[in-house]
Amino acid sequence: MRFLALFPIACSICAIVLSFLVIFAGNKPNFMEGYDLLTLNVSRIGENLLNTTSSSSDSGILGILKNATNQIEGDINGELNSIASSLAQQFGLKDFYSVHILDYCEGSYVPGPVPNATLSSSHIHRNVSSCSNHTSMFTFDPRAALAQSIQDSGLGIDVNETLDELNFPDQIENEIKALRVAWKAMFVLYCIGIGLSFLCLILSILGFFQPDSGRLLPAINFLMFLLALLTLGVASAIATAIAEEGTDEINKYGKEIGISSSVGHKFLIITWIATGVMFLGSLVWCSGCMVPRKKPAVHKTG
Ligand SMILES: *[C@@H]1O[C@H](CO)[C@@H](O)[C@H](O)[C@H]1NC(C)=O
Ligand SMILES: *[C@@H]1O[C@H](CO)[C@@H](O)[C@H](O)[C@H]1NC(C)=O
Ligand SMILES: *[C@@H]1O[C@H](CO)[C@@H](O)[C@H](O)[C@H]1NC(C)=O
Ligand SMILES: *[C@@H]1O[C@H](CO)[C@@H](O)[C@H](O)[C@H]1NC(C)=O
Ligand SMILES: *[C@@H]1O[C@H](CO)[C@@H](O)[C@H](O)[C@H]1NC(C)=O
Ligand SMILES: *[C@@H]1O[C@H](CO)[C@@H](O)[C@H](O)[C@H]1NC(C)=O
Repeated sequence: MRFLALFPIACSICAIVLSFLVIFAGNKPNFMEGYDLLTLNVSRIGENLLNTTSSSSDSGILGILKNATNQIEGDINGELNSIASSLAQQFGLKDFYSVHILDYCEGSYVPGPVPNATLSSSHIHRNVSSCSNHTSMFTFDPRAALAQSIQDSGLGIDVNETLDELNFPDQIENEIKALRVAWKAMFVLYCIGIGLSFLCLILSILGFFQPDSGRLLPAINFLMFLLALLTLGVASAIATAIAEEGTDEINKYGKEIGISSSVGHKFLIITWIATGVMFLGSLVWCSGCMVPRKKPAVHKTG
C-alpha cells in the first residue's frame, strides 16, 4: 500500500464535496444561504424619490402606491417617514436577493435592514422566504427578479411602470446580461471539474493499492490532478470575476436609487479551497513520479 496516496484521496473527496456545495448552495430556502455569489440589497429602493416632498401625490411612485393600496390618504408629508422605512415592502419587493449559480433566493433582513444606534450590522440576519426554480441555464436578471416579486405581491400594479418610476437603471440589466456567457461557462466548468475530481479519486485509490506500478500511475495521476486543478481554478476565477464585476456595476449604477450589492466571500472561500486542495493533491503525485521508488524493489529481490 502506498500510504501517501491517502492524502490525494482525501483531497479529491474534499474537492468533490466542496464543488457540489458551490453549485447547490441556496438550492432551497436556508440551505447554505450565506454561500451566494453576490447579494442584491434593495431594502432602501426609491428612498431618493421620497425626499421630494413637493411632488404631487397622484403621480409618480406615490401615485402608484396610493392607487394600489389606498394606504396613503390625506397628509402625504406626515406619512413619508413610515413609508420610507419600507418602500420596498410596500411594493411587494423583498429586502434582498441572494444570487446563486443555479437560482436566486429572496427574503427580508431581521430585525431590520439598516443598522442603527441599537442594531449593529452583525446582528442583522437574513430570513429567506423563497427561492426561484433552479435551472442549469440560469443567469440572474435583477429586473426580472424584482418584477416577479411585484407580480407575486398581488397588488395588481403595473410592474414595468413601477420599475420605471423607481428609475431602475438599464445599465445594471445590460451589464449583468453581458455576464451571461461567463455564467454558463462557469457552470459547465464546475461540472467538468467535479467529473475530473471523481476520476482523480478513482485513480488515487488505484495508486493506493498498486504501489509497485512504477512511475506511470503517479504520472497519470499527476496529470489528472493538474487538469482538475485547472478546470476548478478557471471556474473559480470566473465566479470571482462575476461576483466582483456584478457587485461593482450594481453599486455604481444603483447607489442613486438606494440599491447595493455585496460579494459573497464565503462562496469564494470554498470554491478556492476546492481548487487549493487539488493543487496539494497534485504535489503528492508529482513527487510520486519524480522520486524513484527503491524500497519495493529491494523488497522483491530480498
Ligand atoms: C433629502 O432631504 C434632506 C433633508 O430632509 C437633505 O439634507 C438632503 O440633501 C436631501 N437629499 C436629496 C438627494 O435631495
Ligand atoms: C391613480 O388613480 C388616479 C384616479 O384613478 C389617476 O388619475 C392617476 O393617474 C393614477 N395614478 C397612477 C400613477 O396610476
Ligand atoms: C433600529 O432598527 C430597529 C429595526 O429596524 C428598530 O426596531 C429600532 O427601533 C431602531 N433603533 C433606533 C435607535 O433607531
Ligand atoms: C442595505 O442597503 C442599505 C442602503 O444601501 C444599507 O443602508 C443597509 O446597511 C444594507 N443592509 C445590509 C444588511 O446590508
Ligand atoms: C421569516 O419568514 C417567514 C416567512 O417567510 C416568517 O413566517 C417568519 O416569521 C420570519 N421570521 C422572522 C424572525 O421574521
Ligand atoms: C416553478 O416550478 C413550478 C413547478 O415545478 C411551476 O409551477 C412554476 O410555474 C415554476 N415557476 C417559474 C417562475 O417558472
